[in-house]
Amino acid sequence: MSDVVLEIKNLTRRFGTFTAVDALTLSVNAGEVFGLLGSNGSGKTTTIKMLTTLLPPTAGEAHVAGFSITTQAVGVRRAIGYVPQAMSVDGSLTGYENLLIFAKLYDLPHREQQARIKEALEFMGLTADGGRMVGEYSGGMVSPTGNRAVHAASAQGAFLG
Ligand SMILES: Nc1ncnc2c1ncn2[C@@H]1O[C@H](COP(=O)(O)OP(=O)(O)O)[C@@H](O)[C@H]1O
Ligand SMILES: [Mg+2]
Repeated sequence: MSDVVLEIKNLTRRFGTFTAVDALTLSVNAGEVFGLLGSNGSGKTTTIKMLTTLLPPTAGEAHVAGFSITTQAVGVRRAIGYVPQAMSVDGSLTGYENLLIFAKLYDLPHREQQARIKEALEFMGLTADGGRMVGEYSGGMVSPTGNRAVHAASAQGAFLG
């Protein structure tokens, strides 16, 4: 089995006559950290949206963890985690409850949910605060919550947008 987790071939997205992503081709191996750098408007977010199956490509194809973004969107969504630029945790829920939402959204097997949430809270040093509302957390406590939630839930990898 190949250890390529992301394979992108001629991925293209047009908005009307404007080409936002133009025949992007690359591959990323398991364990690699890959970043898209570029000026505003260069097509980074459009690319991530296509790879996370939120936006269909105009042309080209990509496979994420072996699943086609065009024909196997459910497989892609199960395999990935995505932390958008403005990550939202709900301040009116506890840390535990926020993590539980992610566990359910990402379809974690029910028997694994409690253990993964406990592990995530421990990792963030929030074990004692899991029952407190996130709105009462200090800023430094909040930002890792979303990231860690997604990592805890994702099987193959995470997209940080
Ligand atoms: N839904 C859309 N309709 C029309 N143009 C869009 C749309 N989304 C993005 N664009 C355009 O595509 C280009 C790439 O945008 P984007 O992927 O957000 O860039 P980046 O994330 O690199 O800043 C920009 O010129 C943007 O205005
Ligand atoms: Mg962007």
